Amino acid sequence: MKDLLITNIGRLHQVRDHQSGFLSGTQMMEWPCIDHAWLRIRSGKIESFGLMAELLPETGPVLDAEGGWVFPGWCDSHTHIVFAASREQEFVDRINGLTYEQIAANGGGILNSAAKMATASEDELFESAQQRLQEIIQRGTVAVEIKSGYGLSLESELKMLKVIKRLKESSPIDIKTTFLGAHAIPLQYKQNREEYIRVIIEEMLPEVASQNLADYCDVFCDRGFFTPEETILILNAASNYGMKAKIHANELGVTGGVQAGVACNALSVDHLESMDQAAIDALKGTNTMPTLLPGTAFFLGMEFAPARQMIDEGLPVALASDYNPGSTPSGNMSFVVSLACIKMKMLPEEAMNAATINGAYAMELESQYGSIQKGKWGSVFITPALTSLAYIPYAFGSDLIHSVIVKGELTVKKQYNI
Ligand code: NIG
Ligand code: FE
Repeated sequence: MKDLLITNIGRLHQVRDHQSGFLSGTQMMEWPCIDHAWLRIRSGKIESFGLMAELLPETGPVLDAEGGWVFPGWCDSHTHIVFAASREQEFVDRINGLTYEQIAANGGGILNSAAKMATASEDELFESAQQRLQEIIQRGTVAVEIKSGYGLSLESELKMLKVIKRLKESSPIDIKTTFLGAHAIPLQYKQNREEYIRVIIEEMLPEVASQNLADYCDVFCDRGFFTPEETILILNAASNYGMKAKIHANELGVTGGVQAGVACNALSVDHLESMDQAAIDALKGTNTMPTLLPGTAFFLGMEFAPARQMIDEGLPVALASDYNPGSTPSGNMSFVVSLACIKMKMLPEEAMNAATINGAYAMELESQYGSIQKGKWGSVFITPALTSLAYIPYAFGSDLIHSVIVKGELTVKKQYNI
């Protein structure tokens, strides 16, 4: 948590002077900026900013942005970056014609990752997850949520959650933890799913809570996984321990997952590739953030979520990566923003708000992240001066972020010119 004055900022983006919670509907087009600016970070937090022409001389560390553009860092509210092994064989199986659901039904998918998780050591898991965390920081992410869910037994779920706790303690960026014991029904419970749900509620949740290992509880409420009724049972039990709901819903089908999340006052319902009008209507007027993960639809070759319709009907939308070994092996939020524009017809301002302020809301971090605002963390990234905001999603796959500052500390400095 350092002091830093950034000078000669060509454009300071997403500058706000009041707390707005989340942005919805037409508000998602608002993208306030200041040109020719400076930004002062004191003890890691944004203390002040203003016009270069009005900057008074001062001592202390200075970073000259050389006309580059400064943005609040990405807030990635949905990842699974603790895993034991990649799953590119399933990727090849899909190229050969199998679907994600067929692979899962054959014992692949999440159960494949759970088998590998069972034998991995905590140290191995920590080291590989730490590398992935480093990778996403390099790409501009400054706050992230990480889920368990490849354990599927008390012992393995606790192992995953302890790894996330170590990441939290050692990482410069903020991390929120979500318990996802209800990610899949393990093979040994296939004929007795009620028993696995009992284990989650009566054995896992109390232990996770007593060791204070999770902020939130997730359930994969979808076709072939958990039903809305099972989801509500688990989320109600979690809420007794103070864990809010953040769930997977409507990825594979319209199964009532969104309504289950809303009924449990979920902080977010995530995926939403399969939506109908009733699910969209259920979200209206609630505090539940619809969180879209276009990297998943891209990688699995599925329909994309109806972001355009949702925003046009007045809803907020957040964007997240879903970084995981099965459905989305990438935590590149710049690419997520590109996909949102290209495949879901979100406008650049909408996509940028969705990946910053609304992502922060989906982790209850909106008072600390998501905009350039006094008192928020000085966690920003810098790009060269660009021709317009739209250049970011337009230049898909380009690595435009050359510097990342985390809580006032220059953490990433890439050497290249664009
Ligand atoms: O968000 N959909 C459920 N869970 C993950 C994928 C898990 C996996 O395939 O490993 C997701 O896509
Ligand atoms: Fe996910």
